[in-house]
This record gives sequence, C-alpha cells and structure tokens, in this order.
Amino acid sequence: MNKHFLALHQFTREELDDLFLFAKELKAKQKKGIPHRLLEGKSIALIFEKSSTRTRISFEVGAYQLGAQPLFIASGSSQMGRGEPIRDTARVISRYCDGIMIRTYGQEILEEFARYSTAPVINGLTDRFHPCQIMADLFTVIEQKGRYQGLKFAWVGDGNNMANTWIEAAAIFGFQLTLACPQGYEPDPTVLAWARGKGAGNIILTHDPKEAARDADVISTDVWASMGREEEQKEREIAFAGYQVNEGLLDLAQGNCMLLHCLPAHRGEEITNDVLEGPHSAVWDEAENRLHIQKAIMAWLME
Ligand code: CP
Ligand code: NVA
Repeated sequence: MNKHFLALHQFTREELDDLFLFAKELKAKQKKGIPHRLLEGKSIALIFEKSSTRTRISFEVGAYQLGAQPLFIASGSSQMGRGEPIRDTARVISRYCDGIMIRTYGQEILEEFARYSTAPVINGLTDRFHPCQIMADLFTVIEQKGRYQGLKFAWVGDGNNMANTWIEAAAIFGFQLTLACPQGYEPDPTVLAWARGKGAGNIILTHDPKEAARDADVISTDVWASMGREEEQKEREIAFAGYQVNEGLLDLAQGNCMLLHCLPAHRGEEITNDVLEGPHSAVWDEAENRLHIQKAIMAWLME
C-alpha cells in the first residue's frame, strides 16, 4: 500500500476497488449508528490554500466519526502564509499529526509536502487532480448503477483537475470516457499521454459536446473557471458557450443517464437549473459520498 493519496495513478484497480468496498461498509455502519472509531486518539491536519465547503466539512466530520481530531488550518493564518517553506511545514506538522490533507495549487507543492512528511498526505484538490472527488463520484455510480464496467462516461467542459482525474480513472478502471472540451481548454497532455501509454484506447477527446453525450450513462461537468482562474471568467464564458449541460444534451444520452457535478455549480453557465435539480441529477448523493469515501481513505492510510 502506498503511503500517500496524491493521485489515482499511484494505485491499482484492485486497491481502489477495495476502497469502494471499505467505504460501503463504513457508510452502512454510520447509517445504522454502529461505532467505527478506527482512528481513536489520532489527529489529522486539514490545510487549505483555497476555499472549500464540501472537502473541509466532510473531512472534519469524517475524522470525528472515526474518533480522530481534525485540525482546520487556513494556510493564510499559519506561517505558510508568511513564506515558511513547505518542506519545513511538512516536517513539523507530521511530527504532531497522524495524517495531513492539503488543498493547494500546484501538484508539485503537494508532492514536495509528501516527500518531507513522515505522515500520510491526502490530496484535497490541486490544479491538476481531485482524486477524492472522483472516488466519491465512482462510488455513487457503483451504488446507483451497480457497476462502472461497460458504462459510457462523458465529460463536458473544462479540461481541468476533474477532467484530468477522470482520465486517470478511465485508464485504471477501463471504462469508456469521452471528453468534450473547447479548443485551448483540453486536459493536461501529460495525463492523457500517461493514460494512453497504459494502452487506454477507451479515452476519446473531442470538441463536440454532442459526441460525448450521445448514449452516455454518466455525464459530468464542472465550472468553467476553476479556483485561481477567476479573472479568466469573461473570456471563458465566450469559449465555453455551447458546452452547457442542458435538457437538449441530456436527450442524447441513455434514458437513465446519471448527471454528476462536483459542486459548487454555476446554474445557467455549465449546467441549467432544470438539469441540476432534475431527475437525472445525483449531485447531492455525490456530495454526501465525499464523507464516506474519505473516511475509507483516512482509515486506510492512517490506521
Ligand atoms: N467538490 C468540492 O471539492 O467542493 P468544495 O470546494 O466545497 O470542497
Ligand atoms: N475544478 C474546480 C473544482 C472545485 C471543487 C476547481 O478547481 O475550482
């Protein structure tokens, strides 16, 4: 077992499948009120260099349910915000805590932290990857469709951290993934090259949202301007016109197509209110499942 949870490509399909089973078990225990304090007496630091609602709360509550103490650290209010080097911060925090989750900008910042940390480090989102979210998304698909094998997944929108992580997931799990991104907003080419190097002929990149949505079992989207890209909002609204997930696009998909969005959503931009609130939307279950999958990840790494 790998010590950190930085990106899906660190893991085998079998390891990640085990995590889904573990999350299912923990979710069942939580729903039945059966104690599962697997991390009694431990502490986990939750470091945020960007905003968060779901990630912060699901990690805090998840740690509490596992018997561990969560410490919320907004980087700006710590010495990190005053320039204390990552490597020093990592060595110090990992002397106190049994696990560390970080939400930051560059994946290399996370990797440096992990290199110097003596405790397991979890990726709570970087500019390149959002692995906890995709694990929650796939857990939701498994719960509601019984499987991920043989399904057609579509990504419509920005080739961002979510799209990159879907590509890694498709390469590892072997499902069909078609990504429709505007020209100039494609996913990270190194991630695609890694996936294709794995022999993943199941990943298609197009500029046509209809091609992605046609016969899809699962359609996912995300905001047009991710955190850190807010100043590009206006130019992105122009580039992404035509990349909205709406009823017309959904009509092309399978009748029981599932709609995922990691949230927060911008209604009227990447998705319409009708679709987000409609019968295909699984976004609230998806958001809840962050809690269950992250409890499995924490317990797996820190127990
Ligand atoms: N989906 C997600 O990571 O949400 P937050 O930014 O609210 O944590
Ligand atoms: N792609 C989005 C995801 C937010 C959870 C971002 O990075 O802002």
